[in-house]
Amino acid sequence: MKAIIGGTGIDKDPRFLENMERLVTKYGETYYSVVDDILYLPRHRPGHSVPPHMINYKANVQALIDLGVDEVISIYAVGSITRRLSPGRFGLVRDFIDLAYSRENTFFDGSTREVRHTPFVVPFDRMLGARFARNAINSGNSLALDCVYITTNGPRLETPAEIMAYRNMGADVVGMTLGTEAALLKEAGIKNAAVAYSINWAAGLDAEGVSFLEDESIERLARTIIDIAQKTLCGNNA
Ligand code: HPA
Repeated sequence: MKAIIGGTGIDKDPRFLENMERLVTKYGETYYSVVDDILYLPRHRPGHSVPPHMINYKANVQALIDLGVDEVISIYAVGSITRRLSPGRFGLVRDFIDLAYSRENTFFDGSTREVRHTPFVVPFDRMLGARFARNAINSGNSLALDCVYITTNGPRLETPAEIMAYRNMGADVVGMTLGTEAALLKEAGIKNAAVAYSINWAAGLDAEGVSFLEDESIERLARTIIDIAQKTLCGNNA
């Protein structure tokens, strides 16, 4: 089974909200739907009701394990720090920095006797990412490559000094969810390609403060990415 995990701009898409199922995993409950043989999981729950620092990431990933998912395209709304990925565009994430804290971010948390240090030299599945990129280009879209995502804890947005520091650390985009989720997906051995789409310039980079794209533009962008993700996961890579 193949899956899409989506967040802002995606979790209100009526195509997925119909036929939502509830699944109780050993880490708690989550919600998903299956549309055209692809499992869709709204990471903030249907209707976007859970903030990033309160998401039950382990239940979400455990649900994918329980349902036999082996490939995921995970989609993230972000703020832009560099011009590699500017607002209104999307691209593949190559690497991440995780600054989130106080989250359940591992399956190897000492509750079993296994101590495991999962390698993260290659955090995302390159072949799956390449398939997504090919489908994006073939459908007339341009995409950014090699983005570095920094994960903050949230839910507050950043200060300008923080964003400057993150740029100096090598981050191109900022968000509040990828690090935790990508860590668990990799521990679970699920292939994952991460796609970021920018909805604002990060703090201090826009004279107007932080201003987000209009809902309509966000939804259009999200829809484009989902279409490409569906094509990629269905094996239609023409
Ligand atoms: N900061 C953190 N997370 C975000 C942002 C941002 O500017 N935009 C979208 N998600």
